[in-house]
This record gives sequence, structure tokens and C-alpha cells, in this order.
Amino acid sequence: TGGITTLDPGFKNTSSCESAITFLDGEKGILRYRGYSIEELAEKSDFLEVAYLLIFGELPTTSQKLQFHKDIKKTALVDEDVKKILDGFPRSAHPMGVLSALTSALTAFNPTSVNVSSEQDMYRAVCKILGKFPVLVAWAYRKEEGLPLAYGDNSLGYVENFIKMMFELPNEEYKMNPIVVNALDKLLILHADHEQNCSTSTVRVVGSSHAGLFASISAGISALWGPLHGGANQAVIEMLEAIKADGGDYQKYIAKAKDKDDPFRLMGFGHRVYKNFDPRANIIKVAAEEVLNDLGVDDPVLDIARGLAQEALSDDYFKSRNLYPNVDFYSGIIYRALGIPVPMFTAMFALGRLPGWIAQWKEMRLRKEPISRPRQLYTGAPLRAFVEESKR
Ligand code: SDX
Repeated sequence: TGGITTLDPGFKNTSSCESAITFLDGEKGILRYRGYSIEELAEKSDFLEVAYLLIFGELPTTSQKLQFHKDIKKTALVDEDVKKILDGFPRSAHPMGVLSALTSALTAFNPTSVNVSSEQDMYRAVCKILGKFPVLVAWAYRKEEGLPLAYGDNSLGYVENFIKMMFELPNEEYKMNPIVVNALDKLLILHADHEQNCSTSTVRVVGSSHAGLFASISAGISALWGPLHGGANQAVIEMLEAIKADGGDYQKYIAKAKDKDDPFRLMGFGHRVYKNFDPRANIIKVAAEEVLNDLGVDDPVLDIARGLAQEALSDDYFKSRNLYPNVDFYSGIIYRALGIPVPMFTAMFALGRLPGWIAQWKEMRLRKEPISRPRQLYTGAPLRAFVEESKR
């Protein structure tokens, strides 16, 4: 219609949809999945159950949960030809680039697009991606380490099996550490959904053209990779390591972050929605201390993180802009204690966010949302006549 539209860069003040999946209150630091508080879910539930809750709307009964896990395991094999695509990558390839490529490639091996109006079809696609994605994440890691690709053990739980696929070594009896399993399960729950964040909005936008579920998730992985979004958990540890190498002088980094002429930002700080605290950061901070204690790991980077957070939280620049530690600030400290290498941190975020992406894509399609196509305010040249090359 050409009507005047309001300009809202980054959609800071725009609701793109109605959704019944996740509720956030940025002022009160509230996060709920399908009405259940993140605190209760992190304490009492497990990641597979939370995935079911997000995607199907209710906590599963015991038999529903068992059937769900069985159906996921049935489709957890990844076509052997996908390994040829993986082989094409250099070992130095970033896992997020590998994952977005392999996830998109899954479409080639599962060509039938999802008929969203068929519950059975939708359920099958959900089980497929929940089965295959952890394999791709583990393979991306093992490729980088030069290890043989593994499938783990289907008698294990969803998160346990993922850990085994990641870390089992040939000719070595793999011992599962319940501290590692519980810590990772809790982290995945805390990352599972977060309403219309950048990567979820990307999954919705791509899916709104009726592109397939795997292709939409592949786009979400690319959006998550950015250091302003999921890539921040890798950037936080790199920042803390730099501060450690600088003799622990976090004042210098705080000054850099405040310096308008310096593009450096305090990674893991600030949030578009949370203006007091990120409830996930509070839970992860406690979990980080517990896990390092339980594993007997003494990581000086945790002390630097605590000191940095304390200093920033008492600084007017951060207070006046409501900048607090977010989900990415402490999560890397746990990943590191669990033996997960830094380049894999954002891949772990993607593994956690997968159920949220699926749930939001499904809701968008079932509600028959229109194709996403925002308008713009034009600021370019007015009408002008073509100029012959000889006259330019
Ligand atoms: C995630 O959206 C989600 O829900 C995301 C997420 C999820 O679960 O999906 O929660 C996961 O992505 C968490 C955020 C991880 N990113 C980082 O930690 C990177 C560092 N943070 C910033 O880049 C920033 O805080 C964002 C990206 C998180 C939010 O950016 P906004 O909302 O666009 O805020 P802004 O860039 O407009 O900043 C407002 C002011 C600016 O200063 P002024 O121009 O007003 O003077 O605050 C400053 C910014 O310069 N600022 C920071 C800062 N974050 C904001 N200054 C220094 N360090 C920072 N981290």
C-alpha cells in the first residue's frame, strides 16, 4: 500500500508474532517454558522432557517420554554419505559452519518436506532432527580432533549418549560421570528456548516462506554463530583468557568496553530483554561453582569472571544501561570444566536451542503465519535518467 511505516532497527519495539511457547519478563527476570518456571525445570526436569514440553505443549507421561526417546533413537542414524560432506571440511573449520552445512544437507537425504497438517508427519520430522543433530554435533567435534566418528550407545539417555558420542575413545572403556551429565543436561534446559531471539526469529522467517524444517534450522544455526548472540559464549572465554594473560587486569577491559571509540564490548554482558538480571545466568553461576567444586577443577578464569562481573555491576556505565551478565557469561566456564573445547561452545548452545527452534517453527506453520516481509524507509537517490557509459 506504500503507507508510511515506523522504523524499528533490530525490531527492538516490534512483536513479530503471538506465541504460546515461552514467556519472558525482562524487568522481573522471569523465564517460563509453556508456563513452567525455568528454575523448576532446571531443578526437576531433564532436557528430553523439556524438548517434549516445548514442542508438544505438555510435560510427557512416563510412557510418552519412553516412546519419544525410542522414536528419536530409531531415526538417529545419519546417512553415511553425510560423512563425505564432513570429510570435505578442513579440521580447522568452525563447528558452527560445519553444523549449518550438514543440517542443510540433511534435506538432501530426507527430501520429503514436512506436511505440517499431519501430526504424524510433524512428529516424525521432530524425532528425525532430534535424533540426528546430536550426532552431527559430536561428529563436528571428532572431525576437529581427528577422531573416528562414533555413534555412542542407544541404551543410554539422550544427553548421556551425546556425551559418549563426543568423548568415547577407541579401545578405551568409557566411564560416564553423572556430574558431567547432570551439568550438561541443566545447561541444555536453560538454552532450550527464549521467545523471539535472533536465531529463533531467523528460523521463523526462513520457515515462513515454507522452506523445510532442516533448512530453517540450518539458517538459525548461522544466526546463532554471531558473537553478539550465541557466539558470545566463545567470545566470553576468549575475553577472560585475554584478561588472565594480561595479569588479570579486568579494569582495562571495562575501560575499553566503556570507550565509545572502541568497538570492544564486554562479552556475556547486556541483553535486549533482561534489564535487571538474566535468570539463566544466576542458575548457571551457581552451577559453575558446584561443577568446578565437584570435579575438583580450580579454574582461575572463574575468579576473573567473578571479579569482572562485580566491578562492572558497580560501574555507572553498566548500571545506567542495565547491563548484567547474561546466559553466555558463565556457561563457557562449565563447558570448559566438562572438557568441551572453546570452538564447540556455540555448538552446545545450538544443541540446547534445537527444541525451541523446532517448537517455534511448528507453531508458526500451524498458525499459518504469512511470509515475513518487512518494509523500509527509502533514503536513496530520487528519480534520475540513465547516463551513457561515455558520459560517466
Ligand atoms: C544471547 O535475544 C536473546 O534472547 C538472546 C539470548 C538467547 O537466549 O537467545 O539470550 C542469547 O544472545 C545473549 C546475548 C549474548 N551477547 C553478548 O553477550 C554480546 C555483548 N552484548 C551486547 O552486544 C548487547 O548487550 C546485546 C547484543 C546482547 C543487546 O544489544 P542491544 O539490545 O541492541 O543493546 P545496544 O547494542 O543498543 O546497547 C545499548 C547500550 C549501548 O550504549 P549507548 O549507545 O546507549 O551509549 O548499551 C551498550 C551499547 O554500547 N552496551 C554495551 C554492551 N551491551 C550494550 N557496552 C559494553 N558492553 C556490552 N556488552
